[in-house]
Amino acid sequence: MMYKFIGVPLLVFLCFGTAQCQKKNILFFASDDMRPELGAFLGPDFPSPVHPTVVHSPNLDALAAQSLLLKRAYVQQAVCSPSRTSLLTGRRPDTTHVYDLIHYFRNVGGNYTTIPQFFKNNGYRSIGMGKIFHPGRASGFDDPISWSEPYYHAPDEKFRSVNFSWRAVSKDEYNIRPLPDMQIADNAIQTLNRVAPAAKSGQQNFFVAVGFHKPHLPFVFPEEFLSLYPRESIRLPDNPHAPVNMPEIAWINYITEELGVYHDINRLHATGAINSTLPDDVVIDLRRAYYSALSYTDSLVGKVMAELVRLGLANSTIVSFWGDHGWQLGEHGEWCKHTNFEDATHAPMMVSVPGLTDKGLVTERLTEYVDLFPTLVEAAGFDPLPLCPEDSTTTALCREGTSLIPLMQDPTREWKAAVFSQYPRNNYTVMGYTLRTDKYRYTEWPAFTMSPVYKPDWNKLYGVELYDHSVDPEENYNRFNDPQYQSIVEQLSSQLRKGWRDMQPPGTIRGH
Ligand SMILES: *[C@@H]1O[C@H](CO)[C@@H](O)[C@H](O)[C@H]1NC(C)=O
Ligand SMILES: *[C@@H]1O[C@H](CO)[C@@H](O)[C@H](O)[C@H]1NC(C)=O
Ligand SMILES: *[C@@H]1O[C@H](CO)[C@@H](O)[C@H](O)[C@H]1NC(C)=O
Ligand SMILES: *[C@@H]1O[C@H](CO)[C@@H](O)[C@H](O)[C@H]1NC(C)=O
Ligand SMILES: *[C@@H]1O[C@H](CO)[C@@H](O)[C@H](O)[C@H]1NC(C)=O
Repeated sequence: MMYKFIGVPLLVFLCFGTAQCQKKNILFFASDDMRPELGAFLGPDFPSPVHPTVVHSPNLDALAAQSLLLKRAYVQQAVCSPSRTSLLTGRRPDTTHVYDLIHYFRNVGGNYTTIPQFFKNNGYRSIGMGKIFHPGRASGFDDPISWSEPYYHAPDEKFRSVNFSWRAVSKDEYNIRPLPDMQIADNAIQTLNRVAPAAKSGQQNFFVAVGFHKPHLPFVFPEEFLSLYPRESIRLPDNPHAPVNMPEIAWINYITEELGVYHDINRLHATGAINSTLPDDVVIDLRRAYYSALSYTDSLVGKVMAELVRLGLANSTIVSFWGDHGWQLGEHGEWCKHTNFEDATHAPMMVSVPGLTDKGLVTERLTEYVDLFPTLVEAAGFDPLPLCPEDSTTTALCREGTSLIPLMQDPTREWKAAVFSQYPRNNYTVMGYTLRTDKYRYTEWPAFTMSPVYKPDWNKLYGVELYDHSVDPEENYNRFNDPQYQSIVEQLSSQLRKGWRDMQPPGTIRGH
C-alpha cells in the first residue's frame, strides 16, 4: 500500500519493523461540554484569563504530551448533536442538515459513512459506549450501523436529576452506586481486555469509542475533586457583560435554553437576558463544580489509558480525544454553549499516533472538527478520503475537512487561513456564520431557508460582528462599525461568503 501524501514517504513513520504494514487500532475518547481549559492549553490559547490558580488535568496533559495537540481547533456548531454529527460524518452542518437535537442525519442529510462505520467496514471491531452520537432519535438510537456489537449505555437516571445543577457525591454513595461515567470507564477497560488478544495477534483491529458525559450539566462528580479547587481559588469572570455593540441576535438566553431547568437555578428567577447576571456566589459555585467535573473526567481518561498501556497496546493504538464544543462559564454574562463566540466554538482536541507524535507536538494552526475523520483514516494506514463534491447527498464516503497528518510532520507549516462555525437563531430562519482567522473573529447573521435549500440570503442580515483578537482576546468590543476596520470587514465578509472550500491549506491534495 502506498501512502499518498504530498510526496512525503509517510510509510516509514506509520509502519514498524515488520514486513507487512500493520493497521493500527483506535481508541476514540469524547467528552461532553469540556472547554479547552486544560493544563496543556495554558498560554495564549487558554479559553479565559480568569481561571483557578491551577487546573488539574494531569491525564489529558500526559496524553497531550504524546499527541499532536490542536490548540486552536473549532467545532462546526456549538451544540451537542450538530457538532458530533459533523465530526462523526466529516461533513458540515449545511451538509448533514442537523442543526438541532432532534433530526437524524440519515433522514435529513444523506446516508453518510461515519468514522466508526468506516473502520467497521474495513474489518475492525467497532464498539461504542456512553455518549458518542447524541443519544435517542437524533442518532436513530446511536446509529446501529456504525457498530459491530450492541451499544453500551450506563444506567444513570438518578444522576441526571434536574433537582440540582451540581452535586459532589460522597465515596459511600458512589461505592454503592457508581456514577455513570465510572461505569463507562469500567466498561471500556473490560472491552479493551476483550479485544486485546485479537488485536495483538493481528487477527482483528479495534475501534473503541468511549464517550464520557461530564463535565456536562448537572455537574455531578465524586466529592474528592472539589478539594482540588478551594472555593477561594475560584474567581469571577472579568467580563460579565455582553460585548459593546453586540447585535441582539448573537445572544442566547441560557436560562430558557438550558441552565434554567435545574431547580436550584430556577429558584433564583434569573432572566438570562443580555447584561443580566447570576448572583456572584452562584457563579463561583458553578465554576468550581465545572472544574471539579472536568478533573473527574480527566481521571477517567487516565484510568482507561493506563489499561491500554498495561495491555501492551499503547504502541499499536491511535488515541484521539475531543470535547464536543466549548462552554461559557459566565464570560459575557453568558452560560452554556449555543453561541458563535470563541468560548463556545473553541474546543479541546488531540490525536496521538504511535511513531508519529510520541514526543508530543503542539500546533497553533487553525483546525476544525471535520478534520478528525480524514486524519484517523490516514493515521491508521488507509488511503486518503476524497474531498466531498458540492452536493454530496448521494456520496457515502468523503470529507469536508483536511487530514492533520501534515501538521504532525511540521506543526508550524502554513495551514488553513480561516475556519468556520455556524449557529441558527429564530426558529432556523436566521443562521449565524462565523469565521476565525489568526487575528479576527467575524460573524454575519443572514436570513436562512431550511429544507429543501438550506441556504442563507446574504442580502438580509440581522447582525454583524467583528472581534479583533490581537487587542481584544475576550471579544468584548464589536468593531463592525468602526471606520478603521472597514477594509478588513470587506475582506472577511468576502471570505465568509465564499466559505470553507476556498480555505484549503496550501500544498494539500484537492479532491482526488
Ligand atoms: C445506507 O447505506 C448502507 C451501506 O453503507 C446500506 O446498508 C443501507 O441500506 C443504506 N440505507 C439506506 C436507507 O439507503
Ligand atoms: C427531586 O426532588 C423531588 C421533589 O423535591 C423528590 O421527590 C425527588 O426524589 C428528587 N429526586 C432526586 C433524584 O433527588
Ligand atoms: C451590555 O453591557 C455593555 C458593557 O457595559 C454595553 O456596552 C452594552 O451596550 C450592553 N448591552 C446591552 C444590550 O445592554
Ligand atoms: C510494542 O510494545 C510491545 C509490548 O510492550 C513490545 O513487545 C513491542 O516490541 C513494541 N513494538 C514496537 C514496534 O515498539
Ligand atoms: C418553527 O418553524 C416550524 C416550521 O416552519 C413551524 O412549524 C413552527 O411552528 C415554528 N415554531 C415556532 C415556535 O415558531
